Amino acid sequence: NNKGFIFDLDGVIVDTAKYHYLAWKTLANELGFDITLAQNEQLKGVSRVRSLEIILDWGNKTLSEDEFNKYMAEKNDNYLSHIAQMDAGEILPDVPKILNYLQETQQGIALGSASKNARKILQKVDLFDVFQAIVDGNDVSKAKPDPEVFLIAAQKLNKKPTDCIVFEDSVAGVTAANSAEMISIGIGSKETLGHADYVFKDFTEIQTSFINELIKI
Ligand code: BG6
Ligand code: MG
Repeated sequence: NNKGFIFDLDGVIVDTAKYHYLAWKTLANELGFDITLAQNEQLKGVSRVRSLEIILDWGNKTLSEDEFNKYMAEKNDNYLSHIAQMDAGEILPDVPKILNYLQETQQGIALGSASKNARKILQKVDLFDVFQAIVDGNDVSKAKPDPEVFLIAAQKLNKKPTDCIVFEDSVAGVTAANSAEMISIGIGSKETLGHADYVFKDFTEIQTSFINELIKI
């Protein structure tokens, strides 16, 4: 018996949310305002373009298309300077335990991320080869909460959506998994991710016995 396990990247496998936040904060500050950690929560799982639109809204700013593109490139350069420092030490606690278990039990393992930097990050933390399929921001036309990213991942794993399980830390991502008719596992707080089928604070709370139950469903 085997299933497809689809992992979001940012906030699930690695805590890159803090680097996204630093880069967006720098940009907002340049434009003369600030963004809070609570606001950053709303940017999780949201595409780069959409994130900048939301941030400009918060600051009541409008930019020309050229300026918009300039700031987006600048944000990504800043973000990539943080990524350049990453190594396997940044993999979140007990993520390797679960990935190893899924490999041992021959489950399908895929990545389903909104990030266009996903492949680069997986290489930096030495996890690239763990994934049989990688679907990221370069491969989709519709961003989360649209289920496209997860449906493509299921297809690449040769699994029916209903045989897939998604690990997600964002509100939009959990909604996307639910719309894809997959089992959604929220990584974070129950307050934020109440619409997920299961919620765990992080992978240290996930036992292999729970994974076994998911495999049997
Ligand atoms: C998501 C992050 O995984 O990827 C968002 O949660 C980010 O914060 C989005 O904006 C796009 O990432 P990138 O790396 O293409 O800018
Ligand atoms: Mg995420």
